[in-house]
Amino acid sequence: MKVLITGGAGYIGSHCNRYFNEQGIETVVVDDLSDGHEESIVAGKFIKGDFGDEKFMKELFQKEKINAVVHFAALRLFLTLLPGRKDIMIITCQRC
Ligand SMILES: NC(=O)c1ccc[n+]([C@@H]2O[C@H](COP(=O)([O-])OP(=O)(O)OC[C@H]3O[C@@H](n4cnc5c(N)ncnc54)[C@H](O)[C@@H]3O)[C@@H](O)[C@H]2O)c1
Repeated sequence: MKVLITGGAGYIGSHCNRYFNEQGIETVVVDDLSDGHEESIVAGKFIKGDFGDEKFMKELFQKEKINAVVHFAALRLFLTLLPGRKDIMIITCQRC
């Protein structure tokens, strides 16, 4: 069983990656490190890249025998007030 974890250098993804490996599940982590930390990836195989890059992902799926995908790659959840608008908050999180 080999699981691809996108965003595996981030908060949730790195815990998931560690847990899966503790359970004997092989992992491949894809993270562009835009907001994650490579040192958080304590197990599995790390491949730096953007999950939105079709060519990169196609090559990855050809090379690795992936059985399942857990998708955590996302832009950091943050709250921003629009300039001059105190009544609207933008919540940005998921890229897809
Ligand atoms: N942290 C929480 O408490 C929480 C709670 C509920 C849901 N979530 C959801 O879980 C997901 C992950 O949250 P998190 O807190 O771990 O976020 P995080 O910012 O810590 O991790 C996201 C990871 O995705 C990576 N990333 C971003 N864009 C990428 C791209 N295009 N290609 C590859 N990697 C990319 C970043 O480098 C980062 O390592 C989000 O969808 C979030 O909304 C988080």
